[in-house]
Amino acid sequence: MPALVLLGAQWGDEGKGKATDLLGGSVDYVVRYQGGNNAGHTVVVGDQKYALHLLPSGILSPGCTPVIGNGVVVDPSVLLSELSGLNERGVDTSKLLLSGNAHIITPYNVTVDKVTERFLGKRKIGTTGRGIGPTYADKINRVGIRVQDLYDESILMQKVEAALDVKNQILTKLYNRRAIAVDQVVEELLDYADKLAPYVADTVLVINEALEEDKVVLFEGGQGTLLDIDHGTYPFVTSSNPTAGGACTGAGVGPTKISRVIGILKAYTTRVGAGPFPTELFDEDGEALRRIGGERGVTTGRDRRCGWFDAVIARYATRVNGLTDFFLTKLDVLTGWEQIPVCVAYEIDGKRVEELPYSQTDFHHAKPVYEMLPGWSEDISKAKSFSDLPKNAQDYVKALEEMSGAPISAIGVGPGRDETIQINSFL
Ligand code: IMP
Repeated sequence: MPALVLLGAQWGDEGKGKATDLLGGSVDYVVRYQGGNNAGHTVVVGDQKYALHLLPSGILSPGCTPVIGNGVVVDPSVLLSELSGLNERGVDTSKLLLSGNAHIITPYNVTVDKVTERFLGKRKIGTTGRGIGPTYADKINRVGIRVQDLYDESILMQKVEAALDVKNQILTKLYNRRAIAVDQVVEELLDYADKLAPYVADTVLVINEALEEDKVVLFEGGQGTLLDIDHGTYPFVTSSNPTAGGACTGAGVGPTKISRVIGILKAYTTRVGAGPFPTELFDEDGEALRRIGGERGVTTGRDRRCGWFDAVIARYATRVNGLTDFFLTKLDVLTGWEQIPVCVAYEIDGKRVEELPYSQTDFHHAKPVYEMLPGWSEDISKAKSFSDLPKNAQDYVKALEEMSGAPISAIGVGPGRDETIQINSFL
């Protein structure tokens, strides 16, 4: 019953696609359990580069069944265009399973996301504008539209009416926008019904049966630990639970079934959107990390904010997720620095603090306390084993492991599928 969770240990964009893809060959099911097309994985297979937003990255591994779980929010137009884009490139997507309980991102959810951000002005969250937050809000308010609703026209009509009741008041009276017509929305949604039908399934049953049969199931989180609605830097977070517990609710598996929780950790730190980020750099080092690391959002095209590695965050991720392993990515990006600063603690109002403060005010005031580690200048992209790495790179990895509280079981030394050093097996 090997059930692995793979999730971002920082603010997302740690390179999860590569890690999932590395495991792809030995994994029977890859399940996304939260988020939507706000995520973005870049997977490099041979000389082909794939940018996935909603689909689990296992879709690129033949033999693997990709699953979109109940905890995901699905924009049908994005899903269908992502599928046809892959089909055009010869990727077979027919195995995809889509939970009938997943919530649909409707056109009005996208509208509400955009107008709300505009309304918030300088207090905005910096969302991806994909309707994620408003769709989860509808789910919690019990006025959401689920995939299964597409197959009962009269129910769909009633639900869209209920959802738009209050929203149209807000759109017209507060935001000065035009009201959204129920019929138009229903018509658009019904148009997706037949196209999605081949994929819709009782994914909870499928996943649990697979675990019973000893199949390898990988639960793939979108975003990252610090963007979690409960455990992240609230309110500058996404509206779901990328942390390990989210895999249980977002896929319908009990916690006793999870055997391994792997945190993807970038060798430095990045963040998109607004919110605190203690090790953020505003100088040429930050610019260099952005340039060398290609730190531009796959989904939004926005430049990512860049900074040095933050061990306080990594320790926190180990704790809230119960991490068993780390996959350290993008170590090659750090090649060429004479010395590499690593944040080992914070200074808050003159006091040294070793752990992430629960208070938002304290975290906003946190200043990084750096330790300088010696860098390396050798090209490490051809390294196949840990001992192939230059001594200083080995020491950097060991120091990060020590500070972060879980073993580093794999290291990414380049974007390609084979540019990975595997230290311990994940299975
Ligand atoms: P939302 O998920 O679109 O509501 O955006 C909320 C916050 O999460 C914003 O700061 C986004 O930039 C951030 N965010 C959402 N998805 C990702 C992701 O996949 N990687 C990194 N940041 C993300």
